[in-house]
Amino acid sequence: MSAENKAENKMDKIISLCKRRGFIFPGSEIYGGLANTWDYGPLGILLKNNIRDYWWQKIVRENNDIVGLDASILMNSKVWEVSGHVAGFTDPLVDCKACKKRWRADHLLEAKGLKPDFEPDVELVDIKCPECGGSLGAVRQFNLMFETNIGPLKDEGSKVYLRPETAQGIFVNFKNVLESQRKRVPFGIAQIGKAFRNEITPGNFVFRTREFEQMEMEWFVKPGTDEDWFETWKNFMWEWFKNLGVKEKDLRFYEHPKEKLSHYSKRTVDLEYNFPWGWGELWGLANRTDFDLKQHSKFSGQELSYRDPETNEVFVPFVIEPALGLTRALLVLLLNAYEEVETRSGNEDGKHETEIVLRLHKAIAPIKAAILPLSKKEPLAKLALEIQASLAGSMMTQYDETGSIGKRYRRQDEIGTPYCVTVDFESLEDKQVTVRDRDTMAQERVAIADLRNYLINKFL
Ligand code: GAP
Repeated sequence: MSAENKAENKMDKIISLCKRRGFIFPGSEIYGGLANTWDYGPLGILLKNNIRDYWWQKIVRENNDIVGLDASILMNSKVWEVSGHVAGFTDPLVDCKACKKRWRADHLLEAKGLKPDFEPDVELVDIKCPECGGSLGAVRQFNLMFETNIGPLKDEGSKVYLRPETAQGIFVNFKNVLESQRKRVPFGIAQIGKAFRNEITPGNFVFRTREFEQMEMEWFVKPGTDEDWFETWKNFMWEWFKNLGVKEKDLRFYEHPKEKLSHYSKRTVDLEYNFPWGWGELWGLANRTDFDLKQHSKFSGQELSYRDPETNEVFVPFVIEPALGLTRALLVLLLNAYEEVETRSGNEDGKHETEIVLRLHKAIAPIKAAILPLSKKEPLAKLALEIQASLAGSMMTQYDETGSIGKRYRRQDEIGTPYCVTVDFESLEDKQVTVRDRDTMAQERVAIADLRNYLINKFL
């Protein structure tokens, strides 16, 4: 199998697993769908929330100098004019004259090893449509912001944008947070929320969508200390994914060349992941300097500087920004966890089958434990349901009483459940259950009275 087919194959398998087991469904499916929109199902939302909570834990709860924020998606349009998004948040678009397929002109040039430089309105004569070989039209700059209107009138005055990044909500609240929380530089403001971009080429499942979620943190520092802080956050990003079990061979940093930096950035480094189709951006780290605060200060007329209480020095802080896509992180964690193994458990009929095991880190696994009674009948079912009830509120569990025990283990392995608790006939006598570990497959007898604490300790 070619590398390309293998890559498609893995993505197809993950997309199919996500649909079959209730992680991610195609959006608006009963109406024929809406291309590149995805709905998170019961397991998907648990996984997404767990990843979000893990980020919030490491960024906000474990750092006394970082506070949270949840700003509006709709903001005054001035914000996007001043931030540079109205004028500059564009991608170069080109249409095939024959098949009408739309392409990112910079991607086509890069694929040919050419520099993505072009004059506006000039046709890409040397390059043909990768789909049909047809000629391409003129390159046009296309603004990625979605527009809508506030109120009943659809005119220029009522125009607003859906935010293309959560960051601006943080900058416009800089003063509010600084004053209400009495923070001292360096400090950070973190925010998680939806962002929208009218991408020209969405795709690769949830890798690039037009509606997605971001987890961003703006770290405000004294000018001159920014370069050191940049290194600190760069290391943090690597460690965050490493701690979630992502294989280091699939991670690397990519330094943006100076000529490709965004209008606000002095330096940008992406943490990249080795996706089935090649290396791609996962987590961007930018030194945004004092660009945003100075712009907002200039155009709002508000003072957005900081006075050091010890030295009385006044300055506009520089900003180091680690910006991660929550939904893109979820895809990476699924890709990293997905494994196919030969039948490991409950191979009753001696057949060799391929099983899927999602080796998700325990902290983010959607279901923490499955309760499996060996018989559907009383009194085993009653005991098993009591055990499940005793865990409610402490962790997400699933109760499964159908099929052989081997099949039930496989069902749980497929969704990444770290522990299976088997309730057997002996449990009625000795008041113990068997706990099976997803990864080592080791089985341990645990007293029912200790089970809750035993499992809680596994997740600490
Ligand atoms: N505030 C800076 C900023 O938004 P970015 O590199 O454009 O920077 C940050 O976006 C992260 O958001 C990316 O590294 C990626 O993980 C995620 N992201 C960006 N566009 C996305 C899209 N269309 N679909 C899914 N995730 C996206």
